[in-house]
Amino acid sequence: MSGALATPLPPNSTIGILGGGQLGRMSALAAAELGYRCHVYAPDADSPGMQVAAARTVADYEDPEALAAFAAAVDVVTFEFENVPARTLEILAPRVPCRPGRKALAVCQDRLQEKAFLERAGVPVAPWRAVHDLAGLEAAMAEIGLPAVLKTTRLGYDGRGQAVLRRPEEAAEAFARLEPRPLILEAFVPFTQEISAVAARGLDGSVAVYDAVENRHSHHILDLSFAPARVPEAVAGQARRHVAEVAAALELVGVLAVEFFLLPDGRLLGNEIAPRPHNSGHWTMDACQAGQFHQHIRAVAGMPLGSAERHSDAVMRNLIGPEGMARLPALLPQPDVSVHLYGKQAARAGRKMGHANCLLPRGSLSAQDEGKLLARL
Ligand SMILES: Nc1ncnc2c1ncn2[C@@H]1O[C@H](COP(=O)(O)OP(=O)(O)O)[C@@H](O)[C@H]1O
Ligand SMILES: [Mg+2]
Repeated sequence: MSGALATPLPPNSTIGILGGGQLGRMSALAAAELGYRCHVYAPDADSPGMQVAAARTVADYEDPEALAAFAAAVDVVTFEFENVPARTLEILAPRVPCRPGRKALAVCQDRLQEKAFLERAGVPVAPWRAVHDLAGLEAAMAEIGLPAVLKTTRLGYDGRGQAVLRRPEEAAEAFARLEPRPLILEAFVPFTQEISAVAARGLDGSVAVYDAVENRHSHHILDLSFAPARVPEAVAGQARRHVAEVAAALELVGVLAVEFFLLPDGRLLGNEIAPRPHNSGHWTMDACQAGQFHQHIRAVAGMPLGSAERHSDAVMRNLIGPEGMARLPALLPQPDVSVHLYGKQAARAGRKMGHANCLLPRGSLSAQDEGKLLARL
């Protein structure tokens, strides 16, 4: 805790949200509950965020006139994605408070900066090297060893923009295919579990950290989060401390998530930082006093943070593509399940259409028969 609390934005102020996806939509819904209007700026008129906005700008992210008008129409700007072009921030930042600010966005949109930043913040990471050309890739493979993971440093998500290298002969094809460059080569981590934790940091520097969760992916897309993570308390506590330290070091105002790999010996390695509400934090909407979207809006609006206390255990299931939507008839009648849908038209394969949170009495998740639980989600 530090610093004096700023005066919160008065009720009915307007929060600008750059980006029209489901994270912007759920942020706008939370803002409405807290008495604010949202002005959503995105290139696509029928995006999930636009559907619930009080005001809309449909324009390219680098359109200088539209951005200037947007800045003049809102009291503060936040972002639902970290890949905000530098040009966009150059136009917005001098005109209106941007939360999170340039530093957090710059670090988190570049895997090289992100890895170096995690190390400086005291979070161990897997060995990594920057890769600018094929000779550099061969040198990096010699140093790090195989298997290794070659990734784009920018614009990757849901496992896109990466390749696992198991044999030296695979290097040339993967290097030719992945762009934009430079790339990063990371040692392949033989993790036993993937866990993550979400924290909010307020304008006054106070931090609220949610319990760490255990994540399971399917086809590189998050499928399930178990809250709390079924790991030793020392591991969960370490994850929470790391996330709080990263939030402070980034001078973040808003919500952030850090993804970790858990090694067989109990050590955690940091993987990625997302300077925004995160899919692995969706369980907080129903299982905590203040969910991650409320915390994000509280932080951005200069309100005191709410409590991140978990009143229930939870399992979050993402509803992905047609198979995800096919689960709806079975999910909707269940009394302990809350369904959240994002208003997307076509349920294309791999598209996140919504999620379901199943609540359990606090402290009971670890004793559950997982097979039985997942069979109804
Ligand atoms: N170095 C690594 N070792 C082992 N698995 C990895 C490694 N990097 C990524 N993965 C796997 O790929 C997934 C996606 O990678 P990540 O770096 O989180 O990118 P993104 O989520 O942006 O697609 C991870 O959640 C993990 O399952
Ligand atoms: Mg990731």
